[in-house]
Amino acid sequence: MTQDGTPAQAGLENLLHESRSFPPSPEFAAQANAQPALYEAAAADRLGFWADQARDLLTWRKPFTETLDWSGAPVARWFADGTLNAAYNAVDRHVAEGRGDRVAIHFEGEPGDTRTLTYSDLLREVSRAANALAALGVSTGDRVVIYLPMIPEAVIAMLACARLGAPHSVVFGGFSADALRSRIADAEAKVVITADGGFRRGAPSALKPAVDEALVPRDGVESPVAHVLVVRRTGQDTAMAEGRDVWWHDALESADVTHEPVWVEAEHPLFILYTSGTTGKPKGILHTTGGYLTQTAYTHKYVFDLKAESDVYWCTADIGWVTGHSYVTYGPLINGATQVIYEGTPDSPHQGRWWEIIEKYKVTILYTAPTAIRTCMKWGEDIPATFDLSTLRVLGSVGEPINPEAWMWYRRVVGGDRTPIVDTWWQTETGAIMISPLPGVTAAKPGSAQVPLPGIVADVVDDEFRSVPDGGGGYLVLSEPWPAMLRGIWGDLERFKDTYWSRFPGVYFAGDGAKKDDDGDIWLLGRVDDVMNVSGHRLSTTEIESALVSHDAVAEAAVVGATDETTGQAVVAFVILRSDHAEALGTTDEDEIIQILRNHVGKEIGPIAKPKRILVVAELPKTRSGKIMRRLLRDVAENRAVGDATTLADSSVMDLIAKGLSK
Ligand code: WTA
Repeated sequence: MTQDGTPAQAGLENLLHESRSFPPSPEFAAQANAQPALYEAAAADRLGFWADQARDLLTWRKPFTETLDWSGAPVARWFADGTLNAAYNAVDRHVAEGRGDRVAIHFEGEPGDTRTLTYSDLLREVSRAANALAALGVSTGDRVVIYLPMIPEAVIAMLACARLGAPHSVVFGGFSADALRSRIADAEAKVVITADGGFRRGAPSALKPAVDEALVPRDGVESPVAHVLVVRRTGQDTAMAEGRDVWWHDALESADVTHEPVWVEAEHPLFILYTSGTTGKPKGILHTTGGYLTQTAYTHKYVFDLKAESDVYWCTADIGWVTGHSYVTYGPLINGATQVIYEGTPDSPHQGRWWEIIEKYKVTILYTAPTAIRTCMKWGEDIPATFDLSTLRVLGSVGEPINPEAWMWYRRVVGGDRTPIVDTWWQTETGAIMISPLPGVTAAKPGSAQVPLPGIVADVVDDEFRSVPDGGGGYLVLSEPWPAMLRGIWGDLERFKDTYWSRFPGVYFAGDGAKKDDDGDIWLLGRVDDVMNVSGHRLSTTEIESALVSHDAVAEAAVVGATDETTGQAVVAFVILRSDHAEALGTTDEDEIIQILRNHVGKEIGPIAKPKRILVVAELPKTRSGKIMRRLLRDVAENRAVGDATTLADSSVMDLIAKGLSK
């Protein structure tokens, strides 16, 4: 259901007729980290359960005595009087406890170059990077923006910041210079860590020029950034600003290989990650240290059944997204896992690249997104069939609802009809997995995230905040605070309260619609607000609309997420051009105009936000109060008969749009 009452993804209604169920095999259940007793322990004493996890999974410098302080709700304080360091937990202690020779990262570059980093290697690199950052003036509390491809330095940079207690803010490498600029400004970052470029689809793709552009003073305001640390990855020609830019390898070469981590309080900010909301301005989601690390480590251990000594884990997410934070950098390293990091796209240089990587590194746990699975389905199952995937034992899915067909394909073709699948629901805001089957315990249902994890309390409620009965649908809420929950929106407490805590007083409103089936299991139905989910990436309709109207040729724009077979949703924009648009665009050719506007959105936000379709229209459907009726536009975008249009101020508008499109 969306705000205006339609299912965000029409096909999802079919989910509720899905009745297949896959219980764990007795062999898997017997060896699983998660046993039914985990639910019982959490139910018996929820806070005690979390305190146990925090003590078991993390090494504290100073032990905490209080588990949760909710007196400042909705800003939680977890384990607040304890102190620790995230990098120490992710790296140093493994070395100190004799696990230094274990491989932390198998890196596979897109061109085929490889690197292996043990935990000892990681400790040396992270320590040097922390010293290098300190030499550039970064100290505890300073913000550092990271804008890197998926190379080991991305993880090293994050941990080096954490080591100093300097919150990082990773900006996805696919975002534009403008998007980077606004995030740097909002976080008031002192240093940016970037690279000359990365390899993408067989060619080097530059990153540094976007940083240069983002740092140019605008409207008389100087950039807060004093230094840029540049990793050499592609060897492209790179302009270096004297006195400002420093090569990473130069800075690290002269840096000491030891560094004393800064012990911070559990509530010390670990990172800010910007994500799309329902307004044009991205929100800086703030996460702190102790609670976040506890829950990422806990979920990584139990949801993926991680056996650190023997598993080879691979999460395909980019560190630019929260999944890369929690399930590439923090969760796996805290748990001492061995993982694969791959730089490029699944089809470079051939469509079997992922399966080849799984065979090569004998990957046992794979965590990816439904959109990737659907893409591989389209390419055909004979491609994975030529590789040995028999090492796989757990498969995970995240980012959007997974349709049962994709789930079944994932299990049969990738998992050899044998592996459990965990469909994990969570958000940038929740910090870690919240709702998911536990392999070895839960009988999995294709398409359902099913049950809140032990220690998590969630519900589905109706408009009046009544818990819906089994079989009913409504809104997903999280009823009790959880350790990895966001602690706010950077610099905007009011927006934090407003966005998440005002729809239903006292509980967290996730923005997702959901249903309970007859067993009480939860099925996610997509966003109920103006947030779209394209290939598992969150995009805001309003943000793309503002990007479109920022072009001189555009008078008005409305953006909807239309159901798309591969990407889940696709961005479809309706624009009204200004009467003098020919002047601004230098053309009247509609195809050219559409191309110009698509590129404009790419420049304003990033290529991922480019509308798949742009439809030039004469009018937009609006209610009498002036609100655009996106529901009707979605009908058009999805080639459906247009629904009830009686609340339109001018009921002839839809005919006009339809006529215009059939021209
Ligand atoms: C959606 C990604 C259904 C949901 C970790 C949520 C899902 C948004 C699932 C958060 C899932 C994520 N089933 N929907 N397993 N996982 N979502 O912040 O709409 O990028 O609100 O975090 O993705 O996206 P975000």
